[in-house]
Amino acid sequence: MTSTGNMRPGTKGSLNPDCAHSHALLDFAQYMNPQQVRVLKAAGLDIVEGDRSGAWVWDVDGRKFLDCFTSAGSFNIGRRHPRIVAAMHEAVEHLDHGNFLLCSQYKAALAHKLADLAPGGLCCTTFGTGGGEVIDFAIKLARGVTGRSKIISTLNGYHGHTGFALSAAGRDVYKAPFGPLMSEFARVPYGDLDAARAEIDPGTAAVLIEPIQGEGGVVVPPDGYLAGLRQACDESGALLIIDEIQTGFGRTGRWFACEHWGVVPDIMTVAKSLGGSLVAISAAIYTDQLREFLIPNPFIHLSTFGGSDLACAIALETLSVIEDEDLVKRSMHLGERLRGGLEVLADSRPEVFAEVRGLGLMVGIEYRDDSMGPRMSYHLGRHGVLAIYTGNAPSVMRLMPPLVIGEAEIDFLLEALYNAVEDLLNGVGDDEPVRKRPRRRPARQAQIAGGTT
Ligand SMILES: Cc1ncc(COP(=O)(O)O)c(C=O)c1O
Repeated sequence: MTSTGNMRPGTKGSLNPDCAHSHALLDFAQYMNPQQVRVLKAAGLDIVEGDRSGAWVWDVDGRKFLDCFTSAGSFNIGRRHPRIVAAMHEAVEHLDHGNFLLCSQYKAALAHKLADLAPGGLCCTTFGTGGGEVIDFAIKLARGVTGRSKIISTLNGYHGHTGFALSAAGRDVYKAPFGPLMSEFARVPYGDLDAARAEIDPGTAAVLIEPIQGEGGVVVPPDGYLAGLRQACDESGALLIIDEIQTGFGRTGRWFACEHWGVVPDIMTVAKSLGGSLVAISAAIYTDQLREFLIPNPFIHLSTFGGSDLACAIALETLSVIEDEDLVKRSMHLGERLRGGLEVLADSRPEVFAEVRGLGLMVGIEYRDDSMGPRMSYHLGRHGVLAIYTGNAPSVMRLMPPLVIGEAEIDFLLEALYNAVEDLLNGVGDDEPVRKRPRRRPARQAQIAGGTT
């Protein structure tokens, strides 16, 4: 029996604002993973999300944070955008998941829309629920089409934790206990065209690449890299798979990041923000030439929930919001403002900042050492910003706020960063065994409690 007694998550008792935070952490530690709780606590990230709206999230204690993590780029249009909430209400009046085997009008409409938005001749879609699922599909398609088996990915690359995706992971720590994984996977340093060229051979089915490495530390490739990969693949008959799961839907100031370099892959994977913060949906978008392989095999890859009617309806509305609110341009414009401010700050504190980089509102701050990533998460939390260092490069903090963010919020973020750096340098909070619990705001708290019980 846990110290939470018989209160279960979702019951009125466990959502009492006075104990929701500690109960959630206790239950999480007891029934999920205590080390996750310890690691998050150490970085001041033992935040239990309560209410969320637009660019902001409140924890169950009523603390307000500017969400600059957005679940690694899953909330491009903000959290619970009013149009998406309305579309969800409307959809549940009529829809459910739908029957995966039948020809759904919602799947068809979304596939059509994705074909309109995707670059070049990418015009056919297979849906999934999560990112890893469509990476798996993309690799299957590449192997099926080419009859070859070798897949080349990059060191520090990240494509999810499912079978083929895990085999392509750029960090051994994720894979070591689970071998043997899929065979014929090779990895090369990101951004090194010669290394990729040397690895591509007549047995290569595909090169799998993020147009900007996300988990790897917001690494923007050198100009010519993606185009060089495209050319090398063409010369050897291999396919190019570009993983836009983090970078897609306006995040970098283009609909898809590969458009910065004018490169069109054979297969492009998307997920995360397509779901408008309310549903799980992913897609692999590919050429009709590749689709030839699937035409005689329409049931060779299936997913019960992939591209459910409900999710497709929400995704369609999400794409309309991005268009109607001109969020792709907004990302470019606000990204420049953010990076400009960060560069001034970085110049003034060279002992803390090594580099600021990124495109649009996908921004990475590289600190001088690995420990500064978690410590800055901690200090930023104290100044009302939720920002998290990247999984494969802890010295790099990723800032990926919603694209609906305003100029005032960019300025708020810059000020929080300034204050967080001062606290870091002055050792503020270093002696706190557990971060201070903030005072709750009664009105906000009542709203949260009312909305969740
Ligand atoms: C670039 C990239 N590819 C794939 C994935 C895996 O997506 P999911 O966690 O939905 O399986 C992620 C997740 O963060 C990602 O950032």
